[in-house]
Amino acid sequence: MKTSLKIILTGLLICLFFTNPTFVFAQQKARPTSKQSEIERKINALLARMMLAEKLGQLQQLDGEANGKYRPEHLELARNGLLGSTLNVRGADQSNELQKVAVEQSRLKIPMLFAFDVIHGYRTMFPIPLGESASWDLASIEKSAYIAAKEARSAGVHWTFAPMVDIARDPRWGRIAEGAGEDTFLGSQIAFARVRGFQGTDFSRNDRVMACAKHFAAYGAAEAGRDYNTTDMSVRTLREIYFPPFKATVDAGVGSFMTSFNSINGVPSTANPFLWKQILRDEWKSDALVVTDYTAVMELMKHGVALDEADAARLALNAGIDIEMVSRFVNKHGEQLIQNKKLSMATIDNAVRNVLRIKYQLGLFEKPYADATREQAMLLNAEHRKFARDSAIKSFVLLKNERETLPIKKSTKEIAVVGFLAGDKRNMNGNWAGDGREQDAVTVLEGVKNKLGNSAKVKFAGGCDAKCEDTSGFDEAVKLARDSDFTILTVGEDIDMSAEASSRTDIGLPGRQLELVKRIHQTGKPYAVVLMNGRPLTINWLAENSPAILETWFAGTEAGNAIADTLFGDANPGGKLPVTFPRSVGQIPIYYNALPTGRPFEAQNKYTSKYLDSPNTPLYPFGYGLSYTTFKLSNLQLSQNKISKTGELKVSVDVENTGKRDGAEVVQLYVRDFIASLSRPMKELKGFERVVLKAGEKRAVEITIRAKDLGFYSATNQYVVEDGEFGLTVGTSSDDEGLKNTFAIVK
Ligand code: NOJ
Repeated sequence: MKTSLKIILTGLLICLFFTNPTFVFAQQKARPTSKQSEIERKINALLARMMLAEKLGQLQQLDGEANGKYRPEHLELARNGLLGSTLNVRGADQSNELQKVAVEQSRLKIPMLFAFDVIHGYRTMFPIPLGESASWDLASIEKSAYIAAKEARSAGVHWTFAPMVDIARDPRWGRIAEGAGEDTFLGSQIAFARVRGFQGTDFSRNDRVMACAKHFAAYGAAEAGRDYNTTDMSVRTLREIYFPPFKATVDAGVGSFMTSFNSINGVPSTANPFLWKQILRDEWKSDALVVTDYTAVMELMKHGVALDEADAARLALNAGIDIEMVSRFVNKHGEQLIQNKKLSMATIDNAVRNVLRIKYQLGLFEKPYADATREQAMLLNAEHRKFARDSAIKSFVLLKNERETLPIKKSTKEIAVVGFLAGDKRNMNGNWAGDGREQDAVTVLEGVKNKLGNSAKVKFAGGCDAKCEDTSGFDEAVKLARDSDFTILTVGEDIDMSAEASSRTDIGLPGRQLELVKRIHQTGKPYAVVLMNGRPLTINWLAENSPAILETWFAGTEAGNAIADTLFGDANPGGKLPVTFPRSVGQIPIYYNALPTGRPFEAQNKYTSKYLDSPNTPLYPFGYGLSYTTFKLSNLQLSQNKISKTGELKVSVDVENTGKRDGAEVVQLYVRDFIASLSRPMKELKGFERVVLKAGEKRAVEITIRAKDLGFYSATNQYVVEDGEFGLTVGTSSDDEGLKNTFAIVK
């Protein structure tokens, strides 16, 4: 491009930039995997003694009973050295019983590996991952994973199938609840924190478990948001948007990866050498153990790439898979595949090595058993519960608060708690609730009663269940609201609506819940909406009409207490949305870091990018969230205005709590690369900091951005950092005009 033209275009974009919001990304902390030669020596010695059937046994993972017990068949297989790992078997006693057979009765005494989905807590439940991500509090996220690890390991679990680090830009997809939302930068930071929380730097310890980065890759981009559906996208987008959170887990030393159910550009992940050989092994130099998802080897036949069972096993192993979860094709056909030279012994040995390495790294050969006394002391102890309450509070996002409807005055005499979800223990824990028990959870109703004691009358009416087809309970609920001074109206999804295999095409309030809200609204009495859900919801009517909305996701064991703390002002909500809330399903996919178009929106010009029947803007943008107090940003300073391609820039800003309550604000730094060889997003998050400030307190925050994190993948998939002008916005939401400046990366 001619220099003069480039200058003009840059100038134009800078002008636009100052009238539009913007921005960032960074981090990749190196964690070299040191070759543990002692372990490798032991692996080789063991491998030399293994028969083929025993090798294949290490590559098999089988499911336990739903209640955590092993199956009778497992004992037999373990005794014969034919079962390397299980999933769902848990509890010190259960796991020890099975382990004892493997360690004492099998020929080679190889310990078993016990895996479990410890997604947001083992017995003490924390908010669902999407909710926890709304805290933007990396230390807190790391700590909840650590507590989950402590509890799980004490119960004989060595390996969690978490974190799920799939970027999800489609709220129809029910598993959006399990991840960190839509953004690659935030998602990568959270991925790193979660792996560190589970594993620490040494997962042989009795308070750590091995983590599993899942689902590699692009599972969150299932077409039309329908779970398990195919994915089709450019390698560039894969590398730039979907891969970095996985790379962050590698940087954190993640011990394992899981395949995704989907195919990518026609190749199922479970048979995809590009993912496993090229990316994971060659480019990222990771020796992480690779497990398939549940029966995913078998599904290769349905994907239409495997002729039969043996072919499916061949494809998976040759693509770089180590462990087959639940289906048994590798075991059944491994020998024949070797004989027919469709599979090499080296491939099998390599997979077995990967399994054994993890077993050594976990310290299972020295300490195969769980300690039941420790388990007793760990599960749901007071410290864990306390932390669950804190982390729940941090996850709440105040979406609306007109005329200071919230917090509710503690002197209020008659409180109505309305909505089935507010009184239902099962719905507090959220989906994928590990070994969490309904009876441990505190409901909203209980939380409010705990908070107010005898000082107020607290009454409950369900109205309808979450599906809300039957409205026969509405009258009672409305009467209660009318007769009370304030109504806490809890609406949303139940835990089965945003989870695996729970895609929805209508993401509004389910059933006739909105009718209930409208009727309570019509009473004219004060009320606040408490939302429970695992995905963004299209709640336009609430956003327009309800005086206050508190998004609480599914907040875990201490949900009710944390919600009451927040509603009555003992805590101040400071969460920020990790995902965009659309106005309608028709806007999907909608995410903040979109590319510019050649015809950006202009109200007066029909031939610009827009809808006839909806604004382009979301209902609530990424990064958005209110507080009971107010914050002001000022004094934006850049350490310099030019940096080299290896340089870095320090950005500082003063944050002041200008209101009357203590609170937390998340300072967000977005950048825009104005002119590049490829179109770049209008804004990209590249840094953030959660700041807790007392009323009236002011503090300087400094965020560093590195030029090397401002690059992108070129049309030929090379990572490039280009010189040129960048815009920078520091604000408190992705749509915040914030404070702006520019800087340049120079040659
Ligand atoms: C299927 C899910 O996709 C995966 O995330 C989970 O870890 C496995 N089942 C095991 O429960």
